Amino acid sequence: MVPKILIVDDTITNLGILKKTLKEFSIFEATDGRTALKIINAEHPDLILLDIMMPGVDGHSVLSIIKNNESTRHIPVMLITSLDGIEDKLRSFEKGADDFLTKPFNPLEVKARIHSLLRVKALQDEIARIPFTLASFVGRIEIRNPLTARHGTRTAFYAEQLAKKISHQTTDHERMRIAALLHDIGYLEINDLIRKKTTPLTDEELLEIKTHPVRGTDICAAWPGTKYIIPWIRHHHERYDGFGYPDGLAGAEIPIGARILSIADAFDALTTERPYRKAYTQAEALVILLENAGNQWDPDYVALFCELAEGTDLCAEANVFQPEF
Ligand SMILES: [Fe+2]
Ligand SMILES: [Fe+2]
Repeated sequence: MVPKILIVDDTITNLGILKKTLKEFSIFEATDGRTALKIINAEHPDLILLDIMMPGVDGHSVLSIIKNNESTRHIPVMLITSLDGIEDKLRSFEKGADDFLTKPFNPLEVKARIHSLLRVKALQDEIARIPFTLASFVGRIEIRNPLTARHGTRTAFYAEQLAKKISHQTTDHERMRIAALLHDIGYLEINDLIRKKTTPLTDEELLEIKTHPVRGTDICAAWPGTKYIIPWIRHHHERYDGFGYPDGLAGAEIPIGARILSIADAFDALTTERPYRKAYTQAEALVILLENAGNQWDPDYVALFCELAEGTDLCAEANVFQPEF
């Protein structure tokens, strides 16, 4: 696919020179900061050439918005400047600028620098795909155990829905889905005889089971691109009152993603059949969540999960959910 480049410059002559130099790419253009931000959100360009001096929202402000937004911060930004001042450049690097282009432009240098930044971006995109690959792999092997078949997939559905309801800022929904698909990956290291046991576990076996969040953390830590979701996996069995494991975190000490995951995980466990009990209905499972809100789970998030379930058969939706990778 031809890389998309957004050129933001209020000087029409500069726009023209850059468009001509970069005609091998798919070019988008803007002459002011506001239009640039609209194009960035709609088109997700692979690289942005950004003039610093513009009327209204200037290049520094646009740069800050891009680099402080989780969904755009990975896009390389090359600032266009006629300023040679080192202080101005340092200030821009601190704000996250990836490179500079000084006017007047040398077409060969412009092309060389852009190809270099695009190579780095392509590599970063590949690394960002790794957790998806891992999650897809885990999804394929979870069906081997009839007791837990599709548990990760359904948990991913509930967790992503709850994350969307909670906020569009604090939790990245896509990462939430991946974390949920991977949350029990640590079970891969637990003996099958314990994992598939249908009679009560001994104390020793229970201790072994309780190692799965830390084992999951260690497995994920070996894969690039998983840094963000690792705390959620490690802490998905913490309790709001601090009596959970592995670290006994309480309340707000537990990462938001782990608090979401914990509710989604429990709801799926409750609404699926176990060898020692039948599956609870959605209504029965919600009552159990509410009864333990504030002890086991974040009470605000339980309330939001109940709102989410109102008038909806969440279990039916989760059963047909096919996560995108
Ligand atoms: Fe777990
Ligand atoms: Fe689980």
